[in-house]
Formats: sequence, structure tokens, C-alpha cells
Amino acid sequence: MDHVTLSATHPLNSSTADSALVLAARQQRGEVTPVWFMRQAGRSLPEYRALREGVAMLDSCFNTDLIVEITLQPVRRHHVDAAIFFSDIVVPLKAIGVDLDIVPGRGPVMAKAVQTSGDVAALRELEPDDVAPVLDAVGALAAELGATPLIGFAGAPFTLASYLIEGGPSRDHLRTKAFMYGQPQLWHELCGRLARIAGRFLALQVEHGASAIQLFDSWVGALSAVDYERFVLPHSQAALAMVPAGVPKIHFGVGTGELLPLMGSAGADVLGVDFRVPLDVAAARVGNGYALQGNLDPALLFAPWQVVEASVREVMRRGDVLSGHIFNLGHGVPPETDPDVLSRVVELVHEISSQ
Ligand code: CP3
Repeated sequence: MDHVTLSATHPLNSSTADSALVLAARQQRGEVTPVWFMRQAGRSLPEYRALREGVAMLDSCFNTDLIVEITLQPVRRHHVDAAIFFSDIVVPLKAIGVDLDIVPGRGPVMAKAVQTSGDVAALRELEPDDVAPVLDAVGALAAELGATPLIGFAGAPFTLASYLIEGGPSRDHLRTKAFMYGQPQLWHELCGRLARIAGRFLALQVEHGASAIQLFDSWVGALSAVDYERFVLPHSQAALAMVPAGVPKIHFGVGTGELLPLMGSAGADVLGVDFRVPLDVAAARVGNGYALQGNLDPALLFAPWQVVEASVREVMRRGDVLSGHIFNLGHGVPPETDPDVLSRVVELVHEISSQ
């Protein structure tokens, strides 16, 4: 295993150690409840849409200056307590030569779906040079952000495997499950490779200055707990084990109410909870060992402000019993969201938590 230790000058050893996000992830109380939003960088911001004009999504993900600027936009505008570096879960796959594109309005699409053992064997290890412009951006961001932590991220083996096997986004993950049940050995070989790619990518981001990481297993809620434990857990565990000790690790998926305790045992410090399970109920399911992140339903951002406010207060009230709470949505910011509503949510969370 690649063992990376944090340098003495790493932000976690200096500028971000006492940030609200890092404290909450370590189940310590800070001055405010930290708040950030999944997909805070993106189409909800007019300044993002302006910068992306005429630039393909994947080109922007390999352009250091664009990554830096797009990542900083929501921090400047909303005063969130963390930045998440602008990229996509398929970027490390593109970087090792997988022929894929990110299609607007659809998501990642492969030129050819993974089917055979030869297709699996072609997924080579990720090397730092493959993602050099990305790592340059991470370093520049960590310096620019000062006391605000940068969250690095990667897609978890199951969610990456689903895009590779389906050839694109899928609602039911039928081909993925057929592969998993029908060719378990090849499935484990595929996920073993994806775990090393994701783990290496996370470790490199940390080495270049990320102060926390989030492993996105967005679509793993499609599985039962029994199948999760057998087909997914060892691989997510392997990916997270490649992150240096002491770095807060967040693990998130959608529809994972039944999987939360198992996702915790994958090695997370913080469990991301979607909007289906109230935070206090999630806490009762996973026990005391974890901070929780979440979980305002993104759809509520389109309700009148009084409704948004009452809902934010309700999430905060339920979060009060937790040993650590990071406020977030239950999934990503929808592109149609009015960014002013997000700014008001940040202000409200800070106001409630500093009383
Ligand atoms: O602000 C942030 O959260 C950082 C940026 C980020 C993006 N993708 C940018 C993006 C992050 C963290 C991701 C992760 C990601 N990508 C996930 C896991 C998070 C989740 O939502 O569950 C997944 C499943 C993907 C795959 C993917 N990429 C999808 C489903 C889409 C949306 C397709 C569409 O156009 O609606 C993408 C494309 C994508 N990734 C966009 C952005 C800003 C939109 C592309 C554009 O702006 O043209």
C-alpha cells in the first residue's frame, strides 16, 4: 500500500486544524456548525456558466486555472465552510486512458462498456503525472484558501463500476448487478482496480493540500446490505485505507439508509445522509463513532423562504443530538437553484449554531 504521511506544512497541521469542518468531523465543537453543499460549484452559479462557455466539461477538469477559479466561486459567494475541488468522479478514469465523455444533461458516457477480463485488465494504476494539472490546482487552492479546508474527492468502486459496465448513467443498474452476480471473480478484480485508482487519487489530493476527503458512492443504495457487505465493502474499505491517517474521511451515497452502519465500517469518520433518513434516526442506527453530514432535501430549495427556513431549523434541531454535524443537502445542488437561497441557508445555519 502507498503510505503517505502528512508533511509538517500540510494545512491540517497548521491553517485548517481548527476549522469548523475539521472539528466537526473529529466530533469536536467549533464556533459554528460547518456548512457546504455537494455540487456547490456548477451550473447554479451564473459566474460558472460564464466561465464554462465554449469549454467542454472534461477540458475544464484538466485545466488548472479553471479548476482553481470554479472551486473558489461558491466560497466567495456563499461563505461556505469548505471548498470542494471542481472535478468529476470519472476524471481519474479519463486520466488512465478510458475513452469517455461527460455529456451535458446526461453525465459520464463510455465509448465502450466494460465486459471482458481484457477490458478490466486495461484499467491500469493511476500515476501522479496522469493528473498533474489537477494536482497543481489542488496545491494552488490549498494555498489560496488559507483557513478554509479543501475537500478532495473520488468516486467509490461500485459507482465507478456502474458507469463502466452500463456504459453511462443507469436507473436500475441491471447490467452492473448481472456482472456482479454472474462473474463475481471478475467483479472483484474490477473493483480492486477501481479501489486502487480512487484511493491513490484521494491520497494524492491530500498530499497536495486537501484537508478532508469525500468518497462518493452515489448509486450504491441500489444494493441490499447483504450484497453491499459481500461485493462492495472490502473495496471501499481498501480505497479509504489509502488515505493518510488523521485526515477526515466522509462517505456518502443516495438511498443508503439501510447501509449506513456498513458504510461506516468502510473506514469513514463522517457519514453523509440523504434526505430520506432524519439525522437523529441515522445517528441511532450507526452509534456514537461518527459525525454525520446532511441532509436538507434539495427540492426544498424551490419552496418559499419560510418553508426553507423551517426545514433548515428542523435539520439543525435533529442535528443537535449528534457528536458532530456538518450541514449539507441530502444530495447535490440542482442546476436550477437560485444561488441567493443557498447563501441565505449558509447564513441561517451559522446564525442558529452560534446562538
Ligand atoms: O461542487 C462540487 O460538488 C464539485 C464538483 C463535482 C462535479 N461532479 C462536477 C460536475 C462533483 C463532486 C462531482 C461528482 C460526481 N459526478 C458524482 C458524485 C456526486 C453525486 O452527484 O452523487 C457523480 C455521480 C458524477 C457523475 C456525473 N457527472 C453526473 C451525474 C453529472 C451530471 C450530468 C448533467 O449534466 O446533469 C456529471 C457532470 C457534472 N459534474 C457537471 C458538474 C458541474 C455538469 C457538467 C456541466 O456543467 O456542463
